[in-house]
Amino acid sequence: MQHWLIANLDVTTLFEQLHEHSGERFVFQVQQGRQPLFSFAPHLPMSELLPIGEKSVTLADGHHWRLISYMSKQHLKRSSIMPTITLVGGLLFSYLLTVSLGLLRLTERRREELAQNQRLFRIVGDTALIGGWYIDLLRNRAVWSKEVCVLHDEPADFQPTVEEAIAYYPAHCHKRLFDCLEACKHDGTPFDEEVTVTTGRGREITVRILGQAVRDANGDIVQIQGSTQDITEQKQLRQEVSRLATRLTRTLESMTVAFLTLDDKWRFSYLNNEAERLLAHKRADLLGHVVWECFPEVQGTRFETEYRLAVEQGRPMIFEEYSSRLMAWFEVHAYPTEEGLAVYFQDVSTRKVAEKRLRVLERSVESSINGVTIVDASQPDLPIIYVNAAFERMTGYSRDEIIGQNCRILQGEGTAKSARNAIRKGISGHRDIHVVIRNYRRDGSPFWNELYISPVRDDEGNVTHFIGVQNDITSEREYRAQLTYSATHDALTGLANRASIEKTIHRACEAAALSHRHLAVLILDLDDFKPINNTLGHETGDNVLIEVSRRLERQLRPEDSLARFGGDEFVLVLPNLLEGKEECARLIEPILAEIACPYHIDANELYLTASVGVSLYSGGATHPQALLQQADLAMYQAKQKGRNTYHFFSSDLNEKVSQHLSIRNELQRALVEGQFELHYQPQVHGPSGRILGFEALLRWKHPQKGYLSPAYFIDIAESTGRSYPSATGYWKPPAAPTRDSTSLGMSHMSCRSTSLPCSSSAAVSYRRSCR
Ligand code: FNR
Repeated sequence: MQHWLIANLDVTTLFEQLHEHSGERFVFQVQQGRQPLFSFAPHLPMSELLPIGEKSVTLADGHHWRLISYMSKQHLKRSSIMPTITLVGGLLFSYLLTVSLGLLRLTERRREELAQNQRLFRIVGDTALIGGWYIDLLRNRAVWSKEVCVLHDEPADFQPTVEEAIAYYPAHCHKRLFDCLEACKHDGTPFDEEVTVTTGRGREITVRILGQAVRDANGDIVQIQGSTQDITEQKQLRQEVSRLATRLTRTLESMTVAFLTLDDKWRFSYLNNEAERLLAHKRADLLGHVVWECFPEVQGTRFETEYRLAVEQGRPMIFEEYSSRLMAWFEVHAYPTEEGLAVYFQDVSTRKVAEKRLRVLERSVESSINGVTIVDASQPDLPIIYVNAAFERMTGYSRDEIIGQNCRILQGEGTAKSARNAIRKGISGHRDIHVVIRNYRRDGSPFWNELYISPVRDDEGNVTHFIGVQNDITSEREYRAQLTYSATHDALTGLANRASIEKTIHRACEAAALSHRHLAVLILDLDDFKPINNTLGHETGDNVLIEVSRRLERQLRPEDSLARFGGDEFVLVLPNLLEGKEECARLIEPILAEIACPYHIDANELYLTASVGVSLYSGGATHPQALLQQADLAMYQAKQKGRNTYHFFSSDLNEKVSQHLSIRNELQRALVEGQFELHYQPQVHGPSGRILGFEALLRWKHPQKGYLSPAYFIDIAESTGRSYPSATGYWKPPAAPTRDSTSLGMSHMSCRSTSLPCSSSAAVSYRRSCR
């Protein structure tokens, strides 16, 4: 016969403390050995149970169990053995008490352990926001731990029905959850679901629910138990992590820089699009494969060395290397990571080519003979950012000194304002500039700088820099100035030359016409200068001419001009004369006196005089050359007057001049056409009748005028300075007496000729004694 005992434990005891479910009823099974003797049937209503005994057990720490035994009334009714049962019940109750006390002792031992575990569970529950539950399938009730109640914002002792518990989840999940419970209940299928919960206070949280079946000793499923964990934060974190991961992947994929990762076995673990493109390999062919096997040609190159160094030394390696396979230059950044190596790289071939070109350019700019300056247009006051070696040489400033300065450091007192303004305007208008500007070196010495400035624009057309090219043209300028000077000045004396004085006369004529004053043009010719050259040499002659020019300069008024025409001929222009001739004469006389003073040159004391011809201009359209010609004629008159004097040109002189000119021309033709003849005239000794000699007389056989005596032309011929007879071979002294002369009895004779000597007015005589 079986004896049934129902014990109901009111847990204000250890169990209550352990589970913190006040009012919880626990069912004890009375066991004999390992076999359960009694199992409480939860579907049995309490009204059907009859309490048959009660015992309170107080534990050492003050807790106590109140054990109440019940008996099924129906069972009692069915068995009708109430008294016996009461007795047996009492016995069993005593047995139960004995067992319970044994249990209590066991529990006492475990109590500490349990308290310990309980604390740990609580910590886990609190920190992991996790709580336990079970579903009492017999009673169809969900039993929630305190944590589960807290998760649902419900009081700690809240115990919902299964339906009430499910109602916390969204409607669309209900079926799924019921299905999970059913499957677990019937087949023991565990479940793991992630669902949102609307808590008692209306909060939305996400929970993970794990559930599994609990079987009794018969293997029947009697409970579903599990845990509920608030994973709201986890989910948010997970979402955030996944969002970040997506963003990172997208970024890496859209990067124009190639990126790849290698694991600790040198296997590709990631490649972005650009890496795929640059390596010319499909991602799928590389991922999981060892880099050295995929690209054997890389072995032994700098790529391998640097990658290995990065990993071994745990430091980033940055380098540029040429890939012979890809025929491109790469800039590579290799970073060691926990997993292996992260590498990002880009094709820098274009930059490399540009750099090479730039280097060539830089070298050519550097070696240019012109100075080159680059200034930064984006900075205030255009600071210099580059100068080449030629600039340093030209200006004496070193790079270190000049970088950061403005180029106006080269300017100084003599720098023209107009040049500076032109530069300033050009810069502000972003135009090309070309100026020649006076600059100063570091040591203060000046130089002429032919400067070109050009704006440099970026792709958008904005001026970012200016480039200046400097050229030192000082010597060129000086040479040009020298040329200009030579074109207008006499090299020996430094006086103006013919071209220059003609301009001066022209301007002076205009001024005289306007001012109604006289202008005198003087030609001064030194008397007998040629013998000085011939006897003392040209150097002394030149020194005399220099001294004459200095003396003339000393005699001039500030408004007068002086020029040398070559040889010993000087031109003086005396403007601004009120009285004409008289005033002019007053100016000439001291000049002649000064010229006549002795010259002490090269240990020689020399005396010179000058003849001056004067042409006066008093208005009208006389050409400078005409004035000079008139002065020239007047000068010859002065010479004829006996030298060391002056003569004014007059109109009657003009006639003489015309005659003079025509004889001069005719003389020229006579020479060419051989119109000169030599006539020998014997000189006879009167008393004896002997012929003493011959006089050779030059005759001009003029085609129209017949024989002309030398008196007609000798002066003019002399003034031209040409040696007519010798030039034409006329003047040939007889080499020996002719047969005729001998036959004429001229054994002793002298021969005299009157001829045209080179430049002397004196007749040269030639005598030969005749026996
Ligand atoms: C200059 N400037 C300049 N001036 C000068 O006297 N000698 C030089 O060699 C140069 N070189 C030069 C190169 C470049 C690229 C620039 C942009 C300019 C001109 C100088 O720096 C300044 O601009 C002018 O003097 C006008 O400005 P300020 O001084 O009137 O303010």
